[in-house]
Amino acid sequence: FFPVRLVLNQPPLFAEALRPRPHYSHKGSHGDVRLVGGARGMGGALMLAGRAALHAGAGRVFAGFLDAPPAYDDRQPELMCRRAEEMDFSSGVAVIGPGLGTSVAAAESLRRVLRSTMPAVLDADALNLIATDPQLRAVLRERQGEALLTPHPLEAARLLGTDTAAVQGDRIAAARRLAGECNAVVILKGSGSVIASPDGEAAINPTGNPALATGGTGDVLAGLAGALLAQGLTSMQAALAATWVHGTAADELVAEGVGPVGLTAGELAPAIRRAINRL
Ligand code: APR
Ligand code: MG
Repeated sequence: FFPVRLVLNQPPLFAEALRPRPHYSHKGSHGDVRLVGGARGMGGALMLAGRAALHAGAGRVFAGFLDAPPAYDDRQPELMCRRAEEMDFSSGVAVIGPGLGTSVAAAESLRRVLRSTMPAVLDADALNLIATDPQLRAVLRERQGEALLTPHPLEAARLLGTDTAAVQGDRIAAARRLAGECNAVVILKGSGSVIASPDGEAAINPTGNPALATGGTGDVLAGLAGALLAQGLTSMQAALAATWVHGTAADELVAEGVGPVGLTAGELAPAIRRAINRL
């Protein structure tokens, strides 16, 4: 038996953590986000996460590519692109998974992130690697830094050793169990995302709509969550705020006629910026 709480995710749960910026603040005050992913053919996933992190207020954003990095992203030249092996994991916040793939090099980058003490967002193939490698899973359970996992239902099922139907049959229980087993905050994504902490607290997110059912929106969520961690939110605050803001951005775009059909993931970033600045 353990006491549990289930609430609706709303701004009063996290808005205060996003305090107004002091007048004397500088880019170092708003944190570094260090993204890892972008294997061959999946560089766009890393770009989407990076652009979202910039629009969500990170001080500096580094993008570490498994594939050869571009010199710069000409849609977002503020992104600092490098090779994954060259990434420094001694400070800031890590986001690993968007377009990561499951190569040996990907697993090595993941091991470096997990062994660091930096807060880390683990998404997509980072979760698939952990699901298939008991050693990586042990490193995750024992790590010092905070971890935020962002599985969709299939990724959650792989981590739990079950199937998607079982996860979807009781999403709250699945999110709580995963949070407990991995000692991490979990966002179980999908319509009505469930946010759960290792101590059994859970929230259901009311924002978002089927416009989000398109490739890349999960990469945007990962970058957004990383930027909020970099600005000092705890992993639970960042999970609640990121999920709410991500859904609200989609809801507002749909109200403006950008979707539900044909919204593209990259269009979320400016709407995310608006939603955060209004909180
Ligand atoms: N209502 C509300 N939100 C939704 C809905 C919906 N009907 N459908 C999707 N979403 C939201 C989810 O909650 C999540 O935040 O959209 C996002 C989708 O994230 P992912 O499932 O991770 O999708 P994607 O960005 O395409 O993932 C990219 O990584 O996870 C892997 O296998 C995946 O190759 C894919 C890649
Ligand atoms: Mg995804």
